[in-house]
Amino acid sequence: METIYLECKGTCEDEEKLVFAGEILKNGGLVAFPTETVYGLGGDALNRESSHKIYAAKGRPSDNPLIVHIARWEDIYKITREVPKEAELVARAFWPGPLTMILYKNEKVPYETTGGLDTVAVRFPSHQVARQLIELGGGFVAAPSANTSGRPSPTNARDVAEDMNGVIEAIIDGGEVGIGIESTILDMTVSPPQILRPGYITREMLEEVLGQVDQDVTMFETGTGQAPKAPGMKYRHYAPKGKLVIVKGDRQAVVDYVNRQSEEARRKGVKTGVIATRETETLYHSDVVLSAGSRQDEDSIARHLYSCLREFDRQEAKLLFSESFEAPGIGMAVMNRLLKAAGHQVVEV
Ligand code: TXA
Ligand code: MG
Repeated sequence: METIYLECKGTCEDEEKLVFAGEILKNGGLVAFPTETVYGLGGDALNRESSHKIYAAKGRPSDNPLIVHIARWEDIYKITREVPKEAELVARAFWPGPLTMILYKNEKVPYETTGGLDTVAVRFPSHQVARQLIELGGGFVAAPSANTSGRPSPTNARDVAEDMNGVIEAIIDGGEVGIGIESTILDMTVSPPQILRPGYITREMLEEVLGQVDQDVTMFETGTGQAPKAPGMKYRHYAPKGKLVIVKGDRQAVVDYVNRQSEEARRKGVKTGVIATRETETLYHSDVVLSAGSRQDEDSIARHLYSCLREFDRQEAKLLFSESFEAPGIGMAVMNRLLKAAGHQVVEV
């Protein structure tokens, strides 16, 4: 299949291109598009054939449900059995935006879209291109991140193309995304509501609206003996092709450790890489040193994390290190993704 590229960066020709892309969706095809979090791989959420195609394009296990994206408040009522008052409060506070809610689905949503579950994940993104495409594509767009299953999520159109060129009908290029890490997932079918995946909208922000909010214990730990409640969180995820280790400790100790390990690896002919920060990037001697951003600006680290992981693959670095980014706010989500990418390999120095 030849993939069509549509550049939509806020010019007046965008509308025409989005109408075209919307037609593809309505006809059962797949279109990758930007959202404020990461790029999504869209298909008509109410068409079971489209959902099948999404799983096939990603190589994703079909028990891993898709998020249904909407572009109007009232559309939440059209695909769910009931919308509790708390969910309305959350929607009013955080939609459109990087927050996904789990609710009971109604019969309009095929089980192919929800991976066989009676619940459905619903998200109303804020990205203008996403909103227009959803409207023009019929109003209900199923969209996982637009990566091959297991790889880091794409944050720009080039990264989408790396995985999806020749596999889907079209890719909309809307430039770099703003956040860089997938939406927070909040399960509204339990009381108190529970965070299944951390993201830009934090527990503290949700608690201001809802009172107590729990979080899935498996988000940061292994060996709890429990399966994560979001089926997708059980897979090794966001992973580069090389082996990744997170190095924790004070700055100098981390730098010394990484440099020693990199030296040793170089002697064995193994290419190394490190995710550093603007504050430390000049201190490392690894082969590929990437700065994710500045510690003064945690958001910048979230924005660049996945593109760093992909860059290691492009440069064929095989032994990778990352600084640790424990911080309140988005730091939680960054660490959650890093831990998964590293298969929970952490070294304390
Ligand atoms: O920011 C995002 O949410 C992006 C953009 C494209 O919107 N989408 C995204 O989708 O991250 P995906 O498919 O990569 O991740 C969806 C996650 C998976 O872990 C899946 O298991 C979980 O949401 N999920 C979906 N429906 C669910 C449900 N009914 N119950 C529990 N977890 C669900
Ligand atoms: Mg994903």
